[in-house]
Amino acid sequence: MLMASSSNAQWSSRWAFIMAAVGSAVGLGNIWGFPYEAGQGGGGAFVLIYLFFVFVIGMPLLIAELSLGRRGRMSPIGSMKKIAEEEGKSTLWQLIGWSGVIGAFIVISFYSVVGGWVLAYVVKALSGFSGLAADSSAEVFTSFIADPYLPIISHAAFMGITIFIVAKGVEGGLEKAVTFLMPALFVLLVGLVIYSAFTGAFAQTLSFLFAPDFSKLTLNVALNALGQSFFSLSLALGSIMTYGAYLKRDVNIGKSAAIIASADTGVAVLAGLAIFPIVFAYGLNPGAGGGLVFISLPIAFGQMPGGVVIGTLFFSLLAVAAITSAISLLEPSVSYVSEKTGKDRRKVAATIGFAAFILGIFSSLGQSGNILGDVSIFGYSIMDAKDSLTKNWMMPLGGMFTALFVGWFVSRKSMMEELAMNDSSFKIWYFLVRFVCPVAIAAVFISIVFL
Ligand code: TRP
Repeated sequence: MLMASSSNAQWSSRWAFIMAAVGSAVGLGNIWGFPYEAGQGGGGAFVLIYLFFVFVIGMPLLIAELSLGRRGRMSPIGSMKKIAEEEGKSTLWQLIGWSGVIGAFIVISFYSVVGGWVLAYVVKALSGFSGLAADSSAEVFTSFIADPYLPIISHAAFMGITIFIVAKGVEGGLEKAVTFLMPALFVLLVGLVIYSAFTGAFAQTLSFLFAPDFSKLTLNVALNALGQSFFSLSLALGSIMTYGAYLKRDVNIGKSAAIIASADTGVAVLAGLAIFPIVFAYGLNPGAGGGLVFISLPIAFGQMPGGVVIGTLFFSLLAVAAITSAISLLEPSVSYVSEKTGKDRRKVAATIGFAAFILGIFSSLGQSGNILGDVSIFGYSIMDAKDSLTKNWMMPLGGMFTALFVGWFVSRKSMMEELAMNDSSFKIWYFLVRFVCPVAIAAVFISIVFL
């Protein structure tokens, strides 16, 4: 078996790579985050600006990260250092890699907690949500996250599955998991959309999601849309760079990025199309926030015919999506440590995964009503503090410096060689990555942090 830390580990095909990258991108961010952000952002206005950010800022960055990964062929830290040296630039640029590896480690520690909730809800859905009223559904959720044991056991299960797949390496683990899991996910989601379309509130959903009400387009909505697009495309934390390192030379990065970004966006929109008809049909509030999945939907599943099956399918689908994303969050640190120490990949994955599990326990216990529920870090709960550190600081800075590095410090010739695009596509990409990405991200970063 090829070890992912060796420089010749590769995806067996372009399809396997695309599946893995789509698996990374599509996760809790799309199926849980996108609908609730869209709901809070007033629907169409958020969707429109989100689409703009995905294709104008996200996609050029996706291309930049994939090329850096493939050029360096190492962990994000190793690749950044190597490319900086090759280009005769300061090796301090490896800090982008460090921020990614550390950031992804922090995210996996709490992502796994939420992934655990999803696993627990698969089990809850199996036994049915029948007759659940709005307040009792909220009670089910809040008492679950306030329990000291069950969420941690679920978190352990989720992390265990992630470690198991990462331990098997690019060929043995990641590829098999994603080539099987991703198509299953698409099928489940399309089925759910078809079901939802027949519940009767489909027309209302279409106008909610696609008829923009520009009075709702505030600066805040725009900022959330940018953050959401970064998180959803797995940008700036080394996931995409690590996957690029296993990419064959003959794969066209520009085309692949277009497919990945479209699939990611497609799933987010499908998730919206699956969820909002249910939300409207049962008179739920589209702007309910993070409770949209865990509190509101079970009410609907409990009332609709076939709710046990649909509910179980829905949470299974969310679990699958979350696991393939979690794999890509664990991979950057595993690839760095096995590259640095030469230790067995399985041991490294187990050790780092266990450390992330321990760190995650604090996020779990820090939920409101739980043992550490009153702990506040600069006014944030433990989970929100990690979320804010990564989303508001590491991701915007990482993305901005990646764009600056690729646009201004790596030679134009190196990038042309790496991308092998036609002339006009290259010019458009180069303009976006040199000017539009850094300026837009800087604007967002400054507004998030200082406004
Ligand atoms: N994109 C995934 C989601 O939408 C989460 C994720 C995986 C991620 N890798 C990442 C987010 C790297 C930011 C950076 O759920």
